[in-house]
Amino acid sequence: MRVSREVDVRIGVPKERRSGERRVGLTPESVKKLVAGGHGVVVEGGAGAAAGYADRDYREAGATLADSAAVWNADILVKVDRPTAEELPLLRSGQVLIAMLQHLAEPELVGELARRGVTAFAMDWMPRITRAQDMDARSSMSTVQGYEAVLLGAELLPRLMPMLMTAAGTLAPARVLVIGAGVAGLSAIATARRLGAVVEGFDVRPATREQVESLGARFLAMDTELADTQDAQGYARAQSDEILELERQTLGRRLPTVDLVIPTALIPGRKPPVLLTRPMVESMRPGSVIVDVAAPFGGNCELTRAGEVVEHEGVRVVGAVDLESRKAFHASQMYSRNVLNYINYLIKDGTLNVNLEDELVSFPLVTHGGQVRTGRGGA
Ligand code: NAI
Repeated sequence: MRVSREVDVRIGVPKERRSGERRVGLTPESVKKLVAGGHGVVVEGGAGAAAGYADRDYREAGATLADSAAVWNADILVKVDRPTAEELPLLRSGQVLIAMLQHLAEPELVGELARRGVTAFAMDWMPRITRAQDMDARSSMSTVQGYEAVLLGAELLPRLMPMLMTAAGTLAPARVLVIGAGVAGLSAIATARRLGAVVEGFDVRPATREQVESLGARFLAMDTELADTQDAQGYARAQSDEILELERQTLGRRLPTVDLVIPTALIPGRKPPVLLTRPMVESMRPGSVIVDVAAPFGGNCELTRAGEVVEHEGVRVVGAVDLESRKAFHASQMYSRNVLNYINYLIKDGTLNVNLEDELVSFPLVTHGGQVRTGRGGA
């Protein structure tokens, strides 16, 4: 697919339209590198403002500032979120879209992208292999999520996080339980430890024990030895109802003593497991907080409502959906660097080569040539 004109490729960066979204697809730092590489970059005025990137920074980096229509006419569109219903009609056949599509949450989207003849890459479906590490936007966003979930929880807690020895006596440290020790969970554990909390981590994948302990947290083990909990990609498998019940029993024993719970347990392509039920929440002390990082996909807590804070018997359950946007400057910087690396990987000599034999192309590719693909390497 040759996409060159007077510059190699014209890349458009629209202002994100989804409510509450403050990130931007490319930062001036990445724009400068793309321009140096022979590409043209068109940025919608104000696109980076909410994340802390001014129009003049983009201009200085070599971008052209333009209105929405000119940006949406580019060869490659770099977005953070999947297109909204208003944005979809702006896409045209032959265009390339790069975004965190999270298309499994909105299956109709891929059909529409295919109908429009768009070649769409989901940055959140980058394969978890060594050579794709610097393009792994999912890990970048999970790192921010885990960090921010702890800060949000700490803010809502009526107590301090560290142990303090004061003239008024000793204050006990907060107790934090992190459920799911993937990228977000480990980031949450590290952040809670930095704030001085006593932290426990829990996961079904035995491999996480060492990672949890290396961050100075205690690994919460189940009474039952779990086998075959991880697939070839390193993701957790969905657990049986029996195992989930045993998990709830293990977690339930800890809840009456815990101040802050950060659930992050996900199974790719499925609804997250419910690991915290209503009676479990009721067993927690008033003033305790749950920040559910799995909220955008349905949540790990039965009481979670995406985008809301539900208070139940004095326990606040935060359906966290905007953790990355709350730290939009660095979230954008990480995402933008991942996208830059991917664009540089995809485009050689002004040609975007859709090589379906390459898993770095076939995994994130969800629509191409009018066809919907599985997005994980299949047609
Ligand atoms: P994720 O976001 O899919 O899930 C978060 C965590 O929840 C995982 O640790 C998972 O084991 C856990 N979980 C799922 N069901 C659970 C349950 N019922 N109870 C308790 N915990 C449950 O995971 P993430 O953060 O995307 O990481 C997945 C894997 O990918 C890990 O093995 C990670 O080390 C690996 N990875 C590899 C990379 C690479 O090689 N480039 C980069 C990033 C991650």
